[in-house]
Amino acid sequence: MGRCSGMSPERGGPYSERGGRCESDPPGPDPEGTSLRTARLRLLPLTSRDESDHARASRNAADALRDTRAADVQWREHGFGPWAVRDKQDSCFLGCAELRLAGDGIEGIAPDEIEAGWWVTEDRRNDGIATEAMEAAIHDLFSRTDVDTITAYISDGENEAPRRVAAKLGFSVRGRGHGRSGEPMTVYTLPRDDWLRQRPSAPALLSTTVPKPMGPSSTWLWRGL
Ligand SMILES: CC(C)(COP(=O)(O)OP(=O)(O)OC[C@H]1O[C@@H](n2cnc3c(N)ncnc32)[C@H](O)[C@@H]1OP(=O)(O)O)[C@@H](O)C(=O)NCCC(=O)NCCS
Repeated sequence: MGRCSGMSPERGGPYSERGGRCESDPPGPDPEGTSLRTARLRLLPLTSRDESDHARASRNAADALRDTRAADVQWREHGFGPWAVRDKQDSCFLGCAELRLAGDGIEGIAPDEIEAGWWVTEDRRNDGIATEAMEAAIHDLFSRTDVDTITAYISDGENEAPRRVAAKLGFSVRGRGHGRSGEPMTVYTLPRDDWLRQRPSAPALLSTTVPKPMGPSSTWLWRGL
């Protein structure tokens, strides 16, 4: 982790050969019945069942293990978390649309703020997938909770694509900070009011039932549960 909110699928590992063909198994039945659908995508809560698909798509087995285990806890305790993004047609695992509690270790984002992050498998980039997936995830969170701001951070350097995604989603700069590895970065925020002003109607998505948070630490209100 380090350069941005979310994960960094660029590092090599056991899966460092270039993929190309989608080898994802179709996702198993989701016991919670939780999913979001957009025109091209299906989003399901990321779980440990996604570990091998994540590793293939990110080409990083260690990140896949860490991220899927953390996602299990995040979803169970808070009722929201990272989404696995799949192609609606063939169920290929395309990347992640993350929303989670920031936790400790980021200078510029408080531990109880919501942190967004996004990544897309290399051979499917620049086709609007990260933006389409994050629009659905953000809309879902703002619809279900009274969370008033979502944050993200992007490290200095050549990160034009994530900066462009942040801009397309309506994030604006809050200030400077340091990421989890101490790297200098820029903090972005997306207030609920800005989101609603820019997108007065819901994106074309279909949301089925969503889980209730099980943990005691939620500091925001949940709607419609
Ligand atoms: C960042 C990332 C998630 C974007 O995913 P994506 O599905 O390609 O995103 P989108 O297609 O919705 O948008 C990408 C935008 O960046 C633009 N872009 C891509 N490379 C760029 C570059 N080098 N310079 C400027 N703009 C660039 C694209 O043109 C597009 O903008 P447009 O729609 O205005 O044309 C993907 O590149 C990725 O996974 N990168 C590696 C991981 C990462 O950096 N994650 C972000 C952590 S914060």
